[in-house]
Amino acid sequence: MAHLTIFLASVVALVPLATGFDFSHADTTLAGRDIGSSSSIAFGHTSRSALIRRDAPKCKVFPGDRNWPSDSEWLRFNSSLGGALLKPRPAAAVCYRSSPEYDAAACSFLLNNATRTNFFFDDPLTILTQWPQGNTCPLSANPTGNCTQGGFPTYVANATTVKHVQLAVNFARNNNIRLVIKNTGHDFFGRNTGAGALSIWTHNLKSFELLPQYSQPGGNYRGAAARVGSGLQIWEAFTHAAEHNVSLLAGSCLTVGAYGGYITGGGHSPLSSLYGLGVDQVLSLQVVTADGKVVTADATTNQDLYFALRGGGGSTYGVVTSAIVKAHPAINLTIAGFTFTLGRTNSPPGPNPTITSSETFWKGFNAVFKFGLPTADGGGYLWTNGIPAGNNSYLMQARVQLPGYTISQAANFTAPLITELNALGIPVVLDTAAITTAPYSGRVASAPGGGPPSSSRFASRLFPRHSWEDPILFNATMDAARKTVEAGYTFHGLNMAPTEKAGGFSPPAGVNPVWRKTIMHADVFDPTNYGTLTAAEADAAHQKLQSHMEAIRAATPGGGAYYNEADLQEPDWQTAFFGENYGKLLKIKRARDPTQVFWAPGTVGSEGWAVQGQEQSGLPTQNGRLCRV
Ligand SMILES: Cc1cc2nc3c(=O)[nH]c(=O)nc-3n(C[C@H](O)[C@H](O)[C@H](O)COP(=O)(O)OP(=O)(O)OC[C@H]3O[C@@H](n4cnc5c(N)ncnc54)[C@H](O)[C@@H]3O)c2cc1C
Ligand SMILES: *[C@@H]1O[C@H](CO)[C@@H](O)[C@H](O)[C@H]1NC(C)=O
Ligand SMILES: *[C@@H]1O[C@H](CO)[C@@H](O)[C@H](O)[C@H]1NC(C)=O
Ligand SMILES: *[C@@H]1O[C@H](CO)[C@@H](O)[C@H](O)[C@H]1NC(C)=O
Ligand SMILES: *[C@@H]1O[C@H](CO)[C@@H](O)[C@H](O)[C@H]1NC(C)=O
Ligand SMILES: *[C@@H]1O[C@H](CO)[C@@H](O)[C@H](O)[C@H]1NC(C)=O
Ligand SMILES: *[C@@H]1O[C@H](CO)[C@@H](O)[C@H](O)[C@H]1NC(C)=O
Ligand SMILES: *[C@@H]1O[C@H](CO)[C@@H](O)[C@H](O)[C@H]1NC(C)=O
Ligand SMILES: *[C@@H]1O[C@H](CO)[C@@H](O)[C@H](O)[C@H]1NC(C)=O
Ligand SMILES: *[C@@H]1O[C@H](CO)[C@@H](O)[C@H](O)[C@H]1NC(C)=O
Repeated sequence: MAHLTIFLASVVALVPLATGFDFSHADTTLAGRDIGSSSSIAFGHTSRSALIRRDAPKCKVFPGDRNWPSDSEWLRFNSSLGGALLKPRPAAAVCYRSSPEYDAAACSFLLNNATRTNFFFDDPLTILTQWPQGNTCPLSANPTGNCTQGGFPTYVANATTVKHVQLAVNFARNNNIRLVIKNTGHDFFGRNTGAGALSIWTHNLKSFELLPQYSQPGGNYRGAAARVGSGLQIWEAFTHAAEHNVSLLAGSCLTVGAYGGYITGGGHSPLSSLYGLGVDQVLSLQVVTADGKVVTADATTNQDLYFALRGGGGSTYGVVTSAIVKAHPAINLTIAGFTFTLGRTNSPPGPNPTITSSETFWKGFNAVFKFGLPTADGGGYLWTNGIPAGNNSYLMQARVQLPGYTISQAANFTAPLITELNALGIPVVLDTAAITTAPYSGRVASAPGGGPPSSSRFASRLFPRHSWEDPILFNATMDAARKTVEAGYTFHGLNMAPTEKAGGFSPPAGVNPVWRKTIMHADVFDPTNYGTLTAAEADAAHQKLQSHMEAIRAATPGGGAYYNEADLQEPDWQTAFFGENYGKLLKIKRARDPTQVFWAPGTVGSEGWAVQGQEQSGLPTQNGRLCRV
């Protein structure tokens, strides 16, 4: 902590006042005079007085229903939004000759160039995992069929102010319309889309302001912080951080939203063993609640929301419009990476050797994972991939990520692992050329690009520390992991220790308490393309994946699954995703959103509703009408 104090002193001396970017979005809110006599956009009742009525409609209204607002009502809503209402078509409509949007040049851009740009994140509908929207209107040079709206929303409010968000919440609630929230569209199981919905698109809430001296009300953090709009992507947040010589904790994929799904659902990072999870960064939140009001949630005000929105999930209790998060001293991330392969011929020593002994390969696989414990305890993050490469060939990729280490410190730190691999007969050489160092959360000059959407699935597990410390459990854990790779899945591990101590003992958060004793989060990636299967095939592929997860769960008693990177059909998902916090979170959900304005699959309290017609695809999609069950 000593270096933090020095850092603060210097920043405070240099920058006595907050250095502002445009923060007007947070200050433009909905007033009574904006509403006038329009009941359609009026505020809701406060949570206490609103009770679920016995005659509450069974389903949300759907386009074509008698109660769906008329065109003139949508027009009025659009003018209250100042023209920010969109009725977008799927991006790939430009590739369909039967669509009025058909445009060969635009289609060519989508096919060839879009992934090098921010295109898919600047699109109001696109989500990166496409099966939840029903695989509608897939991108293709020669598409078959017509481009339909499928599980995409009907209307989108392109929010650039808090007022836009409030208006959309009120309009959806007052008209019983399904409401969804989309930020970047990275979500893995469709919490960001829904057929016949009005979507609040938070992507353009981009403000940033450094607060050099911030005292957390009712909390224990005092120091540099940043006030951030909930639409910032990680690369944008990092660019601001670099300008102010601070570091902001966020995920590794630069296109993810730093302050939407990431902070509300958990948020792991290469800095997690040092500073905890995304939820531990949050000092205060600005939130639009189900009644359309805008409130502050922190350790002294609306503590229930402050608890729930730090790990209890997005799309559940309200819409986050901005946050105040910790800003840490600038730090370098040093990465020592190597790969070894099980193949047909032995290669000479080097950073990426090939060996031929299967027994040796799997011993090396275990040795790498075992090193996850000292890595996490040393403040680091061990990134690994066990990859099946066909013909009984396998790859073991490892990147030991060490924040705050110099290259020579990192070489020294990883030396015991390299020595062990060498002793096993795996000739990995980790010279300094294989170790990189660079500022963590450095400047990113332009959008890193991403997409196109795909239709894959995976399942995941939070592995408790005792599955490493107990040799019998560790053996069973590694056996189960190896079997997933041998069965054709990629086993992607991330060792870290985001303890409460690392998180700075922030006030209690809704995040799954299992995270605090976690030593690894791992994804088991299924190579199946779920976009082209019959319902029976999709179901069989999913059951096969889950049978492998059963063995992993058996080896990791007391574990869970990371809500933001998980299988929607995780057994007993309430406990797996939220652990012992589920009951408390459900009470907060019921009190804050009694009429269920917010709904998304796998969210707290979502059990009461289901999307109709899912059985047709064999997948839990959002392509249907949302009704109570
Ligand atoms: C390539 C890739 C890499 C990833 N890497 C990491 C990683 O390193 N670490 C990690 O922890 N996670 C990682 N994730 C998972 C990521 O955290 C989740 O997908 C997260 O939900 C994305 O949030 P978003 O706001 O960007 O996306 P969206 O899909 O737009 O939103 C996700 C969910 O959050 C809700 N939401 C979004 N904004 C708000 C808001 N302002 N208020 C209320 N609810 C909101 C949405 O309704 C939706 O339910 C990764 C995902 C991908 C696809
Ligand atoms: C909303 O109004 C704006 C400005 O007039 C217009 O450009 C936009 O197309 C309208 N949206 C819809 C859905 O009609
Ligand atoms: C796509 O990129 C190529 C260069 O890689 C460029 O020549 C072409 O004009 C681009 N096409 C579009 C539609 O932007
Ligand atoms: C596509 O739309 C056209 C015109 O609306 C219709 O005639 C045709 O049957 C549709 N094709 C499919 C595969 O649904
Ligand atoms: C959303 O609004 C922003 C700000 O006005 C604008 O720049 C952007 O083009 C809009 N997006 C769409 C898809 O209309
Ligand atoms: C940036 O912060 C780091 C860490 O606190 C410090 O060592 C460095 O001197 C700072 N750089 C500048 C240019 O202020
Ligand atoms: C990051 O590494 C560079 C190069 O090794 C070094 O000059 C710089 O001081 C380091 N920055 C911090 C914050 O440690
Ligand atoms: C497996 O080996 C066969 C025969 O050498 C080769 O034809 C095939 O391409 C290999 N498959 C993969 C996935 O490497
Ligand atoms: C290398 O690590 C050992 C312990 O593993 C430690 O004693 C030694 O000081 C380290 N050397 C350097 C240069 O960091
Ligand atoms: C686990 O233990 C058994 C029995 O001792 C042994 O055969 C097996 O190889 C071990 N598995 C791993 C992954 O170490």
